[in-house]
Amino acid sequence: MPGTVVVGAQWGDEGKAKVIDRLSGEADMVVRYQGGHNAGHTVVANGQKFAFRLIPSGVLFPNVTPVIGNGVVVDLATLFGELDMLAAAGIDTSRLLVSANAHVIMPYHPILDRLDEERRGANAIGTTKNGIGPCYVDKVAREGIRVQDLLDPPRFRARLATTLAAKNEILTKIYGHPPLSESEITTEYLDVFAPRLRPYAGDSVAAVHDALEAGRNVLFEGAQATFLDIDHGTYPFVTSSNPVAGGACAGAGVGPRDLDRIVGIAKAYVTRVGAGPFPTELHDDVGELIVERGQEFGTNTGRRRRPGWFDAVMMRQAVRLNSLTELAIIKLDIFDTLVSVRICVAYDIDGARYTHLPADQSLLEKAVPVYEDFPGWECDTTEARTVDELPENAQRYVRALARTSQIPITMLGIGPSRDEMIDVPATWLEATADSRSVRS
Ligand code: GDP
Ligand code: IMO
Ligand code: MG
Repeated sequence: MPGTVVVGAQWGDEGKAKVIDRLSGEADMVVRYQGGHNAGHTVVANGQKFAFRLIPSGVLFPNVTPVIGNGVVVDLATLFGELDMLAAAGIDTSRLLVSANAHVIMPYHPILDRLDEERRGANAIGTTKNGIGPCYVDKVAREGIRVQDLLDPPRFRARLATTLAAKNEILTKIYGHPPLSESEITTEYLDVFAPRLRPYAGDSVAAVHDALEAGRNVLFEGAQATFLDIDHGTYPFVTSSNPVAGGACAGAGVGPRDLDRIVGIAKAYVTRVGAGPFPTELHDDVGELIVERGQEFGTNTGRRRRPGWFDAVMMRQAVRLNSLTELAIIKLDIFDTLVSVRICVAYDIDGARYTHLPADQSLLEKAVPVYEDFPGWECDTTEARTVDELPENAQRYVRALARTSQIPITMLGIGPSRDEMIDVPATWLEATADSRSVRS
């Protein structure tokens, strides 16, 4: 703090929301900077589970102003549904600020997302079909409709008329889909959505800078993750925004010098939803165990997440891409029953050894992981509240994660609840080198 980014260091669902929640007690503002309701961010607090898709995960704290930044694409029905859910739980959301520059998901976006995926057939990306990609396409094509357009009816009508004419051509002529009605969309967006949105819409850039200049703590909450990044992920199996820490600059309107602390979030293993290469993917009983014990099913779509061993090659790339200052490791408890655990430290591809990610990502399809093996701990870690209370083999594994990833680990998750978290002192990490074990 004051400017802290929390960023997914793998392929999503690392536990970003839990860390945001953990840090929010001392934060004044939590800002989402990219993505949309493709995110599913879970916080378990006081026995209650909250799944956020758009509203920043710090909203549960009365000291926090939640901000949806200009880089986010906003689905208004989802936003209002979340506001209703929070109101029913007695949470005050009146401080919410939605950037007037944020783009709005329109009814044609999820339809095009689904039709595009069907057209791709065997090459489908496995998107959430929420219209995220098509909305960002319109933003870049300068055809998008923004929050501020909804608050200016003549401008909204003019922009919708131009864009919808083109969308209906695509829908009807390419996909044989019935055209969408301009008057129905106008009624819904101007008469139903706009009045409810108006009190929250404003200048998020000014609000973030006022907070930073007053010395307040601002958290930037990443959605998706480093390897789903449109530029740095496993293209084309990526999302349509920049989840990397640098995305916080463009997506919230701050400069790099406003960011002091960059916290990467990773699981003790890796999961990914949707298609794309995954060198350490497991198709065996250990994979099944991870999915079952870790409840690795999408928060929104319910899709089974693909499991795999921790990949330090990717992590070292994530350290570089985000200039991570530290790493939080989540879900260590999921390994409590395993006899042995592994970390991927390099790839063998076509007879060559790679200790860093190959630039040609298609090579990842052929990557054979090189592992370091460690004995498991075979006992419960969920009661531990300090690193010293963890079984010795778990401590050794955590030190090995830090060594192979070349980044200090500062937090450990050992259960879904707010209090099931261990702060890792720097002195502990430096104390003893982990004993290296057999390389398979
Ligand atoms: P996000 O998208 O990065 O915020 O992560 P998700 O909320 O999609 O997925 C993380 C899941 O793991 C959620 O169901 C959390 O409640 C759960 N979780 C978070 N931390 C831990 C942990 O340390 N141990 C266990 N067992 N579950 C955790
Ligand atoms: P959080 O913030 C995991 C994946 C989709 C698909 C690809 C593109 O909860 O970590 P999109 O709908 O964005 O065009 O889909 O990205 N994906 C996620 N995977 N966690 C997420 O969010 C994701 N958001 C998108 O499964 O492979
Ligand atoms: Mg998630």
